[in-house]
Amino acid sequence: MSVDPRKRREEILSRLGTVPALPAAAMRAVRLMQDPDVSVPSLVTTIEYDASLTAGVLQHANSPFFGGTRRVATVKEAVVRLGINNLRKVVLAAAFEPMARQQILGYDMPAGSLWEHSLAVAVGVDKLCKAAGLPQPPHAFTAAILIDVGKIVLGTFIKVDPEPLMAVAYEQSLSFDAAERAVLGIDHAEVGAALLESWNLPPEVVDVVRWHHQPESCPGDRTAVDLVHMADALAVVIGIGGGLDGLNYRPSPDAAARFNLPRAERERVALELLEELERLRGRLSTAA
Ligand SMILES: [Fe+2]
Repeated sequence: MSVDPRKRREEILSRLGTVPALPAAAMRAVRLMQDPDVSVPSLVTTIEYDASLTAGVLQHANSPFFGGTRRVATVKEAVVRLGINNLRKVVLAAAFEPMARQQILGYDMPAGSLWEHSLAVAVGVDKLCKAAGLPQPPHAFTAAILIDVGKIVLGTFIKVDPEPLMAVAYEQSLSFDAAERAVLGIDHAEVGAALLESWNLPPEVVDVVRWHHQPESCPGDRTAVDLVHMADALAVVIGIGGGLDGLNYRPSPDAAARFNLPRAERERVALELLEELERLRGRLSTAA
């Protein structure tokens, strides 16, 4: 028996509190790094307070994804070598990777695929910025990494049944996020945004995650959401970890037009993204 989507939506939102937050030390470090005058010793102490965060930070700091060429052995070295901007990325990746690596049954995503998709979107954003000759907007990396966190909530914690979603998507020729809205009264983008809001992440990140499938609806400056949306579409096109999200995927033609990136240029970036991910594949994992 189908449940009223409005009731389903309320039930889903009421259960967000049951989703475990990122490790407290990581959240503290992420917040500290929002202060441009953050003191290095307090940052080092915060990271070192948590053994698994320390291990994750060192592994990511040494990974080719973050340009690690010379090994760093201590958190202090990582802070000095990477600088605050890159360290912010490393801390986020170290904190989120264990959660993002899990298999997501309801979304047909084997273990590792959501994480791989997050990295593909992050790399794609970087490549699109270079192709468009634009600086990368602040928060774009964070939003790219957390883009589909709502799927973890819906697939793993709420355990939604994907069958009615797929049936509606096929019968009504809807994109998967539109099918989620039709059946559940909410899509994974809004669920993810609500979760990130409850984690006190900056509103700029929350907005990009919330509107990553509907960039036209994003209030204010759309640069970051357009970029994340286009990078998401590129990752889906090259088959990197979108799961059921790839079903009837509808990239926004307006987002590409706003960036003045013609189709041929986007295809070149997609190829470059594929090559880069192939090059990094197997070397991205910190779990290995
Ligand atoms: Fe998505």
